[in-house]
Amino acid sequence: MKVNLELLKELERTIDTVNPEGGKVPIKILGYGEISLVFELSDDPQRLAYKRIPIFDNENQVKRHIWAFNEYNRILMEEIGLNLPHFDTAWFKDENEKIQFYCVQEKINPDSVGNKIIHKVSSKEVETLVLLAMKEMYKVWNYSRKNKIIDLGLDGQISNFALIDYDSNKPKVNDDSKLYYLDTSTPMFRMNGKEAMEAELFLKSAPSFLRWLLKALFLEETIARYYDWRKVTIDLVANFFKEQKSELIPNLIRLVNKFFKEEANEFEIDPITLTEVQKYYKSDANMWVIFQNVRKFDRYLKTKVFRKKYDFYLPGKIER
Ligand SMILES: Nc1ncnc2c1ncn2[C@@H]1O[C@H](COP(=O)(O)OP(=O)(O)OP(=O)(O)O)[C@@H](O)[C@H]1O
Ligand SMILES: [Mg+2]
Repeated sequence: MKVNLELLKELERTIDTVNPEGGKVPIKILGYGEISLVFELSDDPQRLAYKRIPIFDNENQVKRHIWAFNEYNRILMEEIGLNLPHFDTAWFKDENEKIQFYCVQEKINPDSVGNKIIHKVSSKEVETLVLLAMKEMYKVWNYSRKNKIIDLGLDGQISNFALIDYDSNKPKVNDDSKLYYLDTSTPMFRMNGKEAMEAELFLKSAPSFLRWLLKALFLEETIARYYDWRKVTIDLVANFFKEQKSELIPNLIRLVNKFFKEEANEFEIDPITLTEVQKYYKSDANMWVIFQNVRKFDRYLKTKVFRKKYDFYLPGKIER
């Protein structure tokens, strides 16, 4: 994988995190999450997706993260058999000696990502897609269940899966469709109970004056959630509220409960209820709304009051 470091350095020199597509180095946004920005370089003949993660203070941190990232990807791919797009990492110190880090992935068809597909296909096919995602997750949790040393976490939201060999002109999902898993940039695995990545990095995008509070209140709970298959599944289903597809939720709950009972019985997972999903969605959405608002205030202070650079890209208003 050939990463164009010079172009990335030029990008970092000139990026405007408020309006990243309007900068000197043309980029196109492919997606964004609560923390990172995923984009392609318009002038790069290589079809690559860059995920910009501006959270590292020193070389040791970034090296440890790269180790954890590579190991997480290796386990998911080679030991568990998930399909991952080709991947790599890139980092450098910019003019101000700040570390700039990117996860790089082969770019896949943007239409093939789960949260796009669910708006193009029938309800039946959405159910098939969710079932395919559950089957991928089964492999992950089954590995952890049998492995005495390694414990894996995964973010099972539908936007983290994509269909392989998807034809944008003929959107369809069937039982034999194959999925990519995309969201590997936060390496979630524990060896002998010890988190491979430095957990506090999760909080680096929060304003420093709030980090201690968030750490005390949420950090452990937030991370632990990704290791718990039941909670990850609640998150997957609850996300259909955010995707404006709440009418599908009751059937999806039936579907995942049936899966737990018939195909993952050995995990003894209690059935998920609608009330629980509703309650979870409300609280999760609230937490992220608060988080994004605090970050906007922080950005305002940094750029307007103190005239400094703000490192993060903040998504516009998110429909919830
Ligand atoms: N290789 C890729 N090719 C094309 N689009 C991608 C690729 N990787 C990610 N995307 C797009 O960007 C979105 C966000 O990517 P990803 O899920 O990896 O990170 P994230 O959800 O932003 O993570 P976090 O919330 O931890 O910051 C995806 O849902 C997808 O739409
Ligand atoms: Mg994601």
